[in-house]
Amino acid sequence: MELQVRTIDASEVAEWLAAKDLGFLRAQVEDYEELALHVREAMDLDRTWAALDSGRVVGTLRSFETRLTVPGPAEVTAAALTNVTVSPTHRRRGLLTKMLAGDLTASMERGEPLGILIASEFPIYGRFGYGAAVESATYTVDTLGTRFGTRSSGSVELVDLAVLRKEAPGLYDAYRARQPGAIERDEKRWDRDLHQVAWPGDEPPRGYSALYRAESGEIEGYLRYRAEPKWDDMRRQGQLVVEEMLAVTPAAYHGLWRYLCEVDLVATVRATDRSVDEPLVWLLEDGRAMRQTSRFDFLWVRVLDVCAALSSRRYMVDGGVVIEVEDELGFARGRYVLEGGPQGALCTRTNEPAELALSVGELGSVYLGGVTLRSLAAAGRVEEREPGALARADLMFRSATTPWCSTWF
Ligand SMILES: CC(C)(COP(=O)(O)OP(=O)(O)OC[C@H]1O[C@@H](n2cnc3c(N)ncnc32)[C@H](O)[C@@H]1OP(=O)(O)O)[C@@H](O)C(=O)NCCC(=O)NCCS
Repeated sequence: MELQVRTIDASEVAEWLAAKDLGFLRAQVEDYEELALHVREAMDLDRTWAALDSGRVVGTLRSFETRLTVPGPAEVTAAALTNVTVSPTHRRRGLLTKMLAGDLTASMERGEPLGILIASEFPIYGRFGYGAAVESATYTVDTLGTRFGTRSSGSVELVDLAVLRKEAPGLYDAYRARQPGAIERDEKRWDRDLHQVAWPGDEPPRGYSALYRAESGEIEGYLRYRAEPKWDDMRRQGQLVVEEMLAVTPAAYHGLWRYLCEVDLVATVRATDRSVDEPLVWLLEDGRAMRQTSRFDFLWVRVLDVCAALSSRRYMVDGGVVIEVEDELGFARGRYVLEGGPQGALCTRTNEPAELALSVGELGSVYLGGVTLRSLAAAGRVEEREPGALARADLMFRSATTPWCSTWF
């Protein structure tokens, strides 16, 4: 029987989940039928693809619709790609290529202006027109002897996960509305992330949750962290690991970081999935106590409908540019004129001569303002055909707020 690529039906979800875990080298859960009962509600079967060999699932891929915050801030609909695997026995036979072509074509037909993903490996998705767009960073703060210049006026309260489940989504939505690169989190996701439901194979919760309450009584931030105690010759060497810290005011940001750095019995605080533009350094008396210990690509963007995508965001300065976009898969190929600024933008197809030429992956990289046109041009990945166009477009595409995505998917 031929290898087949198609979307699946409800009876195939359990086998599909087992194949996905195999592809990600994860331990198999005991009962995939039970897991499927939970997962089925959270997945859209029309967007859940499988590669099959003689009826057996050997490849998985799925997408879901979300809202992505873009510079402005404004929002655009995005197709979020996830659960991409091909069995080690069937790799490099074009199965990912076939599944993704099916999903991208369906996204285009639904009118989704762009796709997003988090790549397990950098070299996989460029060939499909995705560009690395938003970076993420890990920080380590040496808390022994580190002081904060001032104290914030609110207070930090330890709460249980049920209370956090009530408070966190509203705070997250307020943050998401103004953070380019942020995406939606739905109710089911909150329930699972905050351990209000347990799916087969889930680890039990460990760690602590806290809220920041301003003097006014308003809750302005939340925190989840766990401790990794360690002692060395009776000296504290333990670490706090920040699972999530989100603040919607500077006071909450200050108060939550200060709280973390002042917990006794630990020597370092480690925070992953943070913005590369973390203001914490400016709160510490000794800025070198905080180190950015890693920084890497996180969110990738694939523009499908150039007119819709470029008209949806705002631009740092008023201006106009004609760009030629190359796209091997054809979706975004063409020449476009963009007129935009801080108040709004319009992008349409044109026959005017192009001032800049780039491929769709580069367009995805600069779309959220996390990568600059200047930097890509310096690497030979953007061609300036009209002198002055690069400098003009480079300023336009920047974002006042550094993009950041703190949501894994
Ligand atoms: C990544 C993965 C899905 C690729 O699937 P696949 O079916 O082997 O991919 P394809 O055969 O369609 O490959 C298409 C092209 O991409 C290249 N490619 C695929 N995976 C690659 C990788 N990890 N690194 C570099 N190139 C890769 C192939 O060599 C091929 O190139 P070619 O057209 O020049 O021959 C598969 O290797 C896998 O499941 N890996 C483990 C899980 C994982 O990392 N998933 C991705 C999560 S984001």
